[in-house]
Amino acid sequence: MTQPFDIADPSLATGGKLRIDWAEQEMPVLRQIRERFSREKPLKGVRISACLHVTTETANLMATLQAGGADVVLCASNPLSTQDDVAASLVTHYEIPVYAIKGEDKATYFSHIEAALNHKPQLTMDDGADVVSELHKNRRELLQYVIGGTEETTTGVIRLRAMAADGALMFPVIAVNDSSTKHMFDNRYGTGQSTIDGIVRATNILLAGRVVVVAGYGWCGRGIAARARGMGAQVIVTEVDPLKALEALMDGYAVMPMLEAAKVGDIFVTATGDINVIDRHHFEVMKDGAIVCNSGHFNVEINIPALEQLSVGAPKLVRPFVQQYLTKDGRKINLLGEGRLINLAAAEGHPASVMDMSFANQALAAEYMLRNADKLEKRVYSLPAEVDQEIARLKLEAMGVHIDTLTEEQFNYLNQWQEGT
Ligand code: ADE
Repeated sequence: MTQPFDIADPSLATGGKLRIDWAEQEMPVLRQIRERFSREKPLKGVRISACLHVTTETANLMATLQAGGADVVLCASNPLSTQDDVAASLVTHYEIPVYAIKGEDKATYFSHIEAALNHKPQLTMDDGADVVSELHKNRRELLQYVIGGTEETTTGVIRLRAMAADGALMFPVIAVNDSSTKHMFDNRYGTGQSTIDGIVRATNILLAGRVVVVAGYGWCGRGIAARARGMGAQVIVTEVDPLKALEALMDGYAVMPMLEAAKVGDIFVTATGDINVIDRHHFEVMKDGAIVCNSGHFNVEINIPALEQLSVGAPKLVRPFVQQYLTKDGRKINLLGEGRLINLAAAEGHPASVMDMSFANQALAAEYMLRNADKLEKRVYSLPAEVDQEIARLKLEAMGVHIDTLTEEQFNYLNQWQEGT
């Protein structure tokens, strides 16, 4: 590899490649797109700076973009989510420059984003909007090269829509998260399973009979609550939105304010996208031994400085990814994964089968952006519904599931208004 890169250990590449190939088996939709991209080269010569969680699934997306002719570099979208063996394989086997080291500090994290931006991207690919934000704040001289961008996650889309509303966004961005084949599956089933996976890998606790408090009942919260219940936990949901709170209630969960839930919860998971959802006054009433973690994009949902202030001395690392705080009144509170996304910090993120659809959307969004950029304004777009439908169709086909089609009679019935009772 002649271009610069910054990874933990190139000697991990062989193991990384095996795991990337393993994930590929579970990504049939992305594989089909890769085959077409190899033939048609829709991204020929296009410089892409991607800022995503460096996982086996992301590696398969990078290979797909590369097959489409793109010139790709990759940096991490979170300091703790990088799989170092995958980074090594991408550099060694795919010749893709990667800037990502698991556990990197904040300064290194941002230096890696800078390195990815030095690639002078024509297309940005974000998970959390850090590349777009950095470009607009500190690297405006590079804006001239950018045709457009894509964004993976809810938090990033919220940031980008705020930028567009401010008139600050300087190029169009496709919100991959808007696609139904993304948020209905990745956010719900992906986050649901991988969050439980992260908690269990970090702690090895039994969930059956425990009280799990889920903060936020968006797509991610719904998934986490459903899977925690499936493991035998009693689930409490906290919400600020009356509609979502009502939905949680009718889905069968207890609903109450966090201050009440804080007194009875054994395990707390935040998935709101907002700041200080678990705050000082919540820590003050938690039970001895409480476990607290986050599954939202940024590590702002748990007020860690407040926990530090309530505690004596530095936290003790009692297991990998488990920091135990001792409060001044003698309770132990366990923080998982430094308050970062627990599913990627302590586990491997969403399984490949669900990332198959998310990253099919990413690959097709990149292609769509290049084809349509001249017609698009400087705002946030969703992919057309037909793309969503096609991804769902391909996924079902790959899973060997057949569905019905409308008869002519049924089609006509749905398209008339005369016939009623
Ligand atoms: N986000 C959540 N899970 C992920 C995964 N496995 N790969 C990339 N991004 C993710």
